[in-house]
Amino acid sequence: MAAQPEVGVVSRPVRRGSIVQLLLFALVAGGVATALAVVPGWLPHPASREAGRIDFVFWFVTVICVAIFAIVAAVIVYSLLKFRVRPDDDSDGEPIHGHTGLEIAWTAVPTVLVIAIAVVSAIVLAKNGHAGSNALRVDVTGQQFAWSFSYPDDGGITSGVLRLPVNRSVNLYLRSRDTDVIHSFWVPEFSQKQDLLPGMTTHVVITPDRVGSYPVVCTELCGLGHSVMRTTAIVMPPQAFASWVTQQRKALKAGGANAGKAVFTSNGCASCHTFAPAGATGKTGPDLDKLPAEAKGAGKPLADFVRESIVDPNAYVAPGYPKNVMPSTFAQLPKSQLDALVQYLVQSKKGSK
Ligand code: CUA
Repeated sequence: MAAQPEVGVVSRPVRRGSIVQLLLFALVAGGVATALAVVPGWLPHPASREAGRIDFVFWFVTVICVAIFAIVAAVIVYSLLKFRVRPDDDSDGEPIHGHTGLEIAWTAVPTVLVIAIAVVSAIVLAKNGHAGSNALRVDVTGQQFAWSFSYPDDGGITSGVLRLPVNRSVNLYLRSRDTDVIHSFWVPEFSQKQDLLPGMTTHVVITPDRVGSYPVVCTELCGLGHSVMRTTAIVMPPQAFASWVTQQRKALKAGGANAGKAVFTSNGCASCHTFAPAGATGKTGPDLDKLPAEAKGAGKPLADFVRESIVDPNAYVAPGYPKNVMPSTFAQLPKSQLDALVQYLVQSKKGSK
């Protein structure tokens, strides 16, 4: 029994040259991975405190991953170059026993890192779920295929765009209609996603910290109109938000055309419909300047036709337009708002003749 093979593998003690090579490979691998993580700008610029914290966790984990990748890649590349089989070398490898120190190290270090990630994530999760005592409440309703937002602390005003004051925490209570499907609320700049479920209220806290307009996206496949189930989140300075609230409340109280116009704009009707008195030029739905003709086509009095089209949009669908595109959420509008909207659509038509 030969104790050692005659030819082939020779024990190679790790020398300074090898360490330098390993370091070099690690630097190259780490550099490439860092460039890939940083240069394309994968993440949107955060616009809320919660998003800032989530970004921190993301980068905390990414830095750890890049470091581990660099070490593993360096060892693999080094081994491939240094220990590959030479031509005509048919010998067995050197019999080796493991390295206790190394094994302790590669068990202990990952354990510490994973615990660190868990602790940081738990802290961020707890902080992100805490709105504090001065939070604004907004009720979010999702339905095929539209968003609506109501402000119960501000006289129940409703809006088709999400208006928020900057630097104040907001409790969003989200819900899909009982007869509807699952949707999911997502503003990329706020980082968080939250599902809306029929028959259940979900909750998310957002503290916007940058004034601006950001897209609100439905991020759960919910039917034909999923891709158009979008609106805007507008983060405003506190005074601007307060005066918007005051103006909406006043318009609601005042009644008449002003109230109707306020309901029309705040519920996003303009994004789908053309309506000259409101300066609306949407093209997704029927042209509301032609309501009298449509009413005639449907064989109904104008006001009845308008009301029915709002609360039960599928009862009569204008020729050339598909069913189920107009949301039926508007049936939930408070009666005063609904009356004002119908009156506005009917009166403006009469007035414009
Ligand atoms: Cu709602 Cu997708």
